[in-house]
Amino acid sequence: MIARIGIVTVSDRASRGEYEDRGGPAIRDYLKQVLTSPFESVSRVIPDERQVIEQTLLELCGAEDCCFVITTGGTGPALRDVTPEATEAVCQKMMPGFGELMRKVSLEKVPTAILSRQTAGICRRSLIVNLPGQPRAIQECLDAVFPAIPYCIDLLEGPFLTTDETRIKAFRPKK
Ligand code: MTE
Repeated sequence: MIARIGIVTVSDRASRGEYEDRGGPAIRDYLKQVLTSPFESVSRVIPDERQVIEQTLLELCGAEDCCFVITTGGTGPALRDVTPEATEAVCQKMMPGFGELMRKVSLEKVPTAILSRQTAGICRRSLIVNLPGQPRAIQECLDAVFPAIPYCIDLLEGPFLTTDETRIKAFRPKK
């Protein structure tokens, strides 16, 4: 089974074409570097509209059959930032450890890491993880949580993901 992974850039300006989306391509490059099992990405660039974010997440976790969806942007305190609310609205279970760990490692880099409300959760049989919009946050955050992601996808009965162990060592507890 080839893994399908959703990449969602949430940004009013990128969705209007006012600037180039750098986050989405950076996430795809990260996945190409880290994953050794085959995958295909499904990318979307959408505005900071809660309805649109929810519809996009439901489509990626449903008809598009993504086992894993990564969002970038819309996690801060600004009035238009609603990605965590949209994520929570479509998830049956929240996975608060992801946000806790990502904020912890990000705080070692920037004091404003506490401004991100990034979270994660399970929508149907897919894991959704929020990242902040800053492209440099992508690697910082994903490096911290990626070791647990393949096993999380196993528990959701998704495809078996393998990683380049020189980059990220996936942890699977022995049965
Ligand atoms: N986390 C990391 N690792 N690196 C960053 O530069 N920026 C912070 C924070 N988390 C940042 C980070 C800032 S300035 C904000 S406002 C919040 O993420 C929310 O960003 P977002 O609204 O683009 O998601």
